[in-house]
Amino acid sequence: MGNDRERIFYGRRKGRPIRAGRQRLLEELLPRIKVDLGEDPIDPTTLFVPPVRDVWLEVGFGGGEHLAEQARAHPDIGMIGCEPFINGVARLLSEIDSVGLDNIRIHADDARDLIDCLTDASIGRASVLFADPWPKSRHNRRRFIGPENLDRLARVMKDGAELRLASDQMPLIRWMLFHTTNHPDFEWVARGPRDWRSRPDDWPPTRYEAKAIGKGIACVYLTFRRRARGKG
Ligand SMILES: C[S@@+](CC[C@H](N)C(=O)[O-])C[C@H]1O[C@@H](n2cnc3c(N)ncnc32)[C@H](O)[C@@H]1O
Repeated sequence: MGNDRERIFYGRRKGRPIRAGRQRLLEELLPRIKVDLGEDPIDPTTLFVPPVRDVWLEVGFGGGEHLAEQARAHPDIGMIGCEPFINGVARLLSEIDSVGLDNIRIHADDARDLIDCLTDASIGRASVLFADPWPKSRHNRRRFIGPENLDRLARVMKDGAELRLASDQMPLIRWMLFHTTNHPDFEWVARGPRDWRSRPDDWPPTRYEAKAIGKGIACVYLTFRRRARGKG
């Protein structure tokens, strides 16, 4: 479905050599919890046993700290995480294995491929946290949040679903705000500075956020809501 355009992923797929235990999890655990993309649309609730009451999506989970914490805090929600960087996937697998989390499914590749396979209005929350900033202006179009991927997310998000974005990079924050507030399907729910200056309590920290805070850089947290679809 929808993979007719040439698609390039610009980020890193591999880092340092992966230790033996994590390599084993990549070979044995990942095949059991990965999302198989085929020709048929995927209703994401069907991926989870025991059944879940909603499914949340995280794009670019890095080492999976936020995803694992959300899964632990919400055992009745199915979490789908997308991350092409295999060392990050291996780290999350190690957490899933040691904690025994059964409500996480992984797409160890580009989120766009996964999103294009999901049924309409099937995701209750989407998070894109500390996305790659691509600071050079000739690379800005590689940023994940932009008109095309907002269309993608809007299609799969339920009416009223939250889109959570965060960054410590001002040019990226301005870019994400510009594109999301100009998109007809999203509205920014902030009422005042406190809403974007502090991370909500139900929003666990990420590794990139911790790095930024360690350097004294302020982070910005943006929450949008997917508008209700027209009744026509
Ligand atoms: C700067 S890191 C942030 C990781 C994590 N969210 C955090 O805050 O610690 C951005 C991550 O997004 C991932 N990423 C970039 N483009 C992606 C895409 N198209 N689909 C899924 N993940 C993507 C990268 O591999 C990288 O791990």
